[in-house]
Amino acid sequence: MNDSSAARGAAIDLTGLRRQYGPVVAVDDVTLSIEPGEFVTLLGPSGSGKTTTLNLLAGFEKPDAGRIEVGGVDLSRTPAHERNLGVVFQNYALFPHLDVAANVGFGLRQRNIDRATRTRLVTQALETVDLAGMGHRRPSQLSGGQQQRVALARAIAYQPPVLLMDEPLGALDRKLRDQMQLELRRIHREVGSTVVFVTHDQEEALALSDRIAVFNRGHIEQVGTGIDLYERPETMFIATFLGESTIVRGTVEHDTRGTFLAVGSARLRVAGTLPAGSRAGVMVRPERLILSKDQPDDSREAIEIDVLEEVYLGSTRKFALRLPDGTEGLVREAVTTASAVRPGDRAWVSWRTTDGVLLPEGELAAPDEDESAP
Ligand SMILES: Nc1ncnc2c1ncn2[C@@H]1O[C@H](COP(=O)(O)OP(=O)(O)OP(=O)(O)O)[C@@H](O)[C@H]1O
Ligand SMILES: [Mg+2]
Repeated sequence: MNDSSAARGAAIDLTGLRRQYGPVVAVDDVTLSIEPGEFVTLLGPSGSGKTTTLNLLAGFEKPDAGRIEVGGVDLSRTPAHERNLGVVFQNYALFPHLDVAANVGFGLRQRNIDRATRTRLVTQALETVDLAGMGHRRPSQLSGGQQQRVALARAIAYQPPVLLMDEPLGALDRKLRDQMQLELRRIHREVGSTVVFVTHDQEEALALSDRIAVFNRGHIEQVGTGIDLYERPETMFIATFLGESTIVRGTVEHDTRGTFLAVGSARLRVAGTLPAGSRAGVMVRPERLILSKDQPDDSREAIEIDVLEEVYLGSTRKFALRLPDGTEGLVREAVTTASAVRPGDRAWVSWRTTDGVLLPEGELAAPDEDESAP
C-alpha cells in the first residue's frame, strides 16, 4: 500500500504452548520466535497441530499451558476480537448478501473507523489484491480466485501487524494457486505484516517462506530456511518429509581417522558424528548421487546397488535403486548426462562425503498422498 502508514509487522513469541483434546495432545510444547515482518510457514502432515497452533495464536482456542506474545504484549488471555490480527482461513466465508467493498470493509466498520477512511482503506486493499473496480460485485459474481483475494483484502484492509493464514489457497486449482502465491509474496512485501501461514504443500512453503517450522505429532521438529531443512535436516523425519532422499543405513564406527558408517563390508566416511555402535543412516539427496558401472575412486563414498527402474522426466531422469539392506533409493541425473547404467544392472552409487548427512535412526515421514514436491 503506497501511502503506507504501512503496518510494521510485529514480533511473535510462542513459548511452551500446549493444547490437549481429551487424550490427544494436539499441540505439545511449541516454542517459536518470529521476527517482525517475517513470513513463517507451519508445514507438516495432516493432524500434526498446525491449525490448532494458529487457532491458539488467533485466540479461537485457549492454551492449556504456555504464552503468546505479539509485539512484546502478552495476549494469552486476550479475546480473539481484541488481538487485532488479520485472519484468512480456508473456508473464507464471505458474506453473500454484502458486496465486495462491504465485505472488505467489514472489520473496519467493527472498529468504528469513519466512513471516509474506510472508503480509502477498502480501495487501497482492493488495489493491492488487484481487484480495483470490483467493489460493487457480489461474491457470487466472482471466480474462486477472486473470492480468495477478497478474503485477503478483508484481512489486510486495516493493515494488521500480523496476518494468519490457514491453507488460504487450498481450494484453488494449481494454476490459480501459483498465481496467488506470487500475489501473496508481493502483498507481503507491500504490507509488511508478519505472516504465519499454514500449508501441507512443501513447494508452496518453499516458494513463500523466510522460514518453515515443520510440525510432527504436535511438536516442532525443526525450524529453518528451506535450504536449512533440505540441505541440513536434523532428523530422519525431516529428511524424508521434505523432498526426496536416499538413506544408506549402517552402524557408526570411530577410529583415529574419523567417523565411519559400516554398511555390510563397506566403510563409508561421514561428515558428522554420532556415538560408536549406534544405528544411523547417511542421507543424500538424489541429485547429489552419481551412478556408475564401475567402482569410483576413493575420493567418493560408494556402495554397490541394483538398478531397478529408470523414469524419464523431461529435464531429469530418475533411477530407483535397491540398497544393500533391501530398502530403495533414488538418483536423479540431468538428461544431458548420458549414464551407461540400465535397469537390471548391478552398479555403484557414490557421493562426496560432505554431501551426506549423518542422522540417527528415527521416525520416517509417511509418504504424502498429494505429493507436490518437484
Ligand atoms: N476440536 C477438537 N477436538 C478434538 N480433537 C481435535 C480438535 N481439533 C483438533 N483436534 C485433533 O488435534 C490434532 C491436531 O489437529 P490440527 O487441526 O491442528 O492438525 P493440522 O496439522 O492442522 O492438520 P490438517 O493438515 O489435516 O489440517 C488432530 O489429531 C486432531 O484430530
Ligand atoms: Mg489444519
